[in-house]
Amino acid sequence: MIRLAVFASGEGTNLEAILAAIAAGRLDAEVAAVASDRPECGAVARARRHGLPTWALCPSDFPDKAAYERALAAAVTGRGEVDVAVLAGYMRIAGPVLRETFPCMVNLHPSLLPCFPGRDAVAQALAAGVRVTGCTVHFVDEGVDTGPIIAQRAVAVRPGDDAERLRARIQRAEHRLLPEVLSLFAQGRIRREGRRVEILPRARAARPHGGAGGGGGWREPS
Ligand code: GAR
Repeated sequence: MIRLAVFASGEGTNLEAILAAIAAGRLDAEVAAVASDRPECGAVARARRHGLPTWALCPSDFPDKAAYERALAAAVTGRGEVDVAVLAGYMRIAGPVLRETFPCMVNLHPSLLPCFPGRDAVAQALAAGVRVTGCTVHFVDEGVDTGPIIAQRAVAVRPGDDAERLRARIQRAEHRLLPEVLSLFAQGRIRREGRRVEILPRARAARPHGGAGGGGGWREPS
């Protein structure tokens, strides 16, 4: 069982997908905390409905980004150790404080990176006229959507798609992909060496002991 901290700013449908996978026995994890920069967002409401420990702090209430991140990190780590921090629609760039507090941090992005990083990835894909886009789960580094890629799922762009329709189809793919990737962490099947990410076959996976950052196959970047 791994412990997750989920960071979100939006509707929280991916948080819901994670919780559904746990409830269905497809993901051996616990959501130890939910954190947000938007107290009024859907993700916070969903987290509270599920009775999860939830913190929503307004960055504008703090003197700077580091102070905001320190407060959020302290709240989350106060609930105990976190194996994987999951940015599931967290619409801020994780700064040094969050990245150092949670060295195993992954982000979900609605495109096939490295195409269309940053904001409005769905609109960027439509504007570029691509026939295929999708979603990516990657490790977070200091750049914007530049970290090592763990897994991707392709989604076709259909004639007549607008941003809303395409986003809905990408999100359906995300709702499968993100829990699958987290389950790989839980099974100790993700190994990272620098920018190289390897997904181990079942038989070769080290069983997690003390979480994904301990013996779960995930390794500190060298
Ligand atoms: C997701 O589609 C995710 O890919 C996107 O925000 C949405 C959150 O949906 N993230 C980004 O655009 C990050 N750059 P949700 O709140 O319903 O899970």
